[in-house]
Amino acid sequence: MSVTPPAPDAPVLLFDSGVGGLSVLAELRRELPAAPVLYAADLAGLPYGSKTEAQVAARVCGLLGRMAERFHPRLICIACNTASTIALGMVREVLEVPIVGTVPAIKPAALATRSGAIGLLGTEATIRQAYVDRLEAEFAQGKHLLRHAAPELVAAAEAKLRGLPVDQGAIARAVAGLRDQPHGAEVDTVVLACTHFPLLRDELAAAFGPGMALVDGAVGIARRIAYLTEGQAMARSIPDRAVVTADPGPLAAALASYGLATIERF
Ligand code: DGL
Repeated sequence: MSVTPPAPDAPVLLFDSGVGGLSVLAELRRELPAAPVLYAADLAGLPYGSKTEAQVAARVCGLLGRMAERFHPRLICIACNTASTIALGMVREVLEVPIVGTVPAIKPAALATRSGAIGLLGTEATIRQAYVDRLEAEFAQGKHLLRHAAPELVAAAEAKLRGLPVDQGAIARAVAGLRDQPHGAEVDTVVLACTHFPLLRDELAAAFGPGMALVDGAVGIARRIAYLTEGQAMARSIPDRAVVTADPGPLAAALASYGLATIERF
C-alpha cells in the first residue's frame, strides 16, 4: 500500500491548552529547524488541569479532529501532559495522522536519581491518571515517587509570558508541596510533568536550590517528531502561525517571540 507523502508545507501541529507547548516548540526548532509549525492553544479551555477526564477528552478530540480537517498537519503533537495522559489513546483511535504525546518523564528521572526519591509536579488531573501509575510501576519500582499538583504554576507560566511578574509564592508552595511529604527531603530529581513548568525552570531551580535535577520530556518529544517525519520534504512557504480559541491579548507578543507571526481565531 502506498502512502501519499505530506505536502512540503504541511505543518507539525503542536497543541496545548495555553503557552505550555512553547517549551516543546523551542526544542523542536533546535531538532528540526526546517519544520513548518502550527501552534494551537485552547485558551478558551485553559486550564485543563481542573477539568474532568470527560471534559478534557471531549475538548481535545473535538478540536484536534476539526484542526486536522482544516490544516492537514503531517503530525500532531499533544504538547500537554494533561491532555496526553487522558486522551492520547482516544485521539489515536479517531485520527489517521501520526500523534505524538507528552507524558511525564518518569523513566529518565528514575535513571537520573541517586537518592531514589523523585518528585513529580503536574496538574491535578495529570497526577491522578492511571497512565502515571503505569509509568511509575514500569520505571520507578523500588523508588519513591512523590506527586504534587501545582495548578498555580500553570497560571504563573501564563502570566510570565504575558509579561507579568512571576508569583514567587506559587513557586515556593510547589517546592514545599514536595519537600513536606515523607521522603521529601531526599528528593534530588523532579519531573516537570506539565509543559508549562519548563517555562519557569529558572524560578524553580532557584527555589529548589543547587543540585536538583529538573527533568522534562521536551527533547525526547522533539526527537520523536524528527524520527517520525524523517525523509519528508519540508518547506516553510508561509510564516509559522498560531491558532487560538480565545482572545490572546498580551500573549501575542510572546507567540511572536517564538516565531509565530500570525495568530488566527479558531
Ligand atoms: N500544559 C498542560 C500540561 O502539560 C496543562 C495546563 C492546564 O492545566 O491547562 O499538563
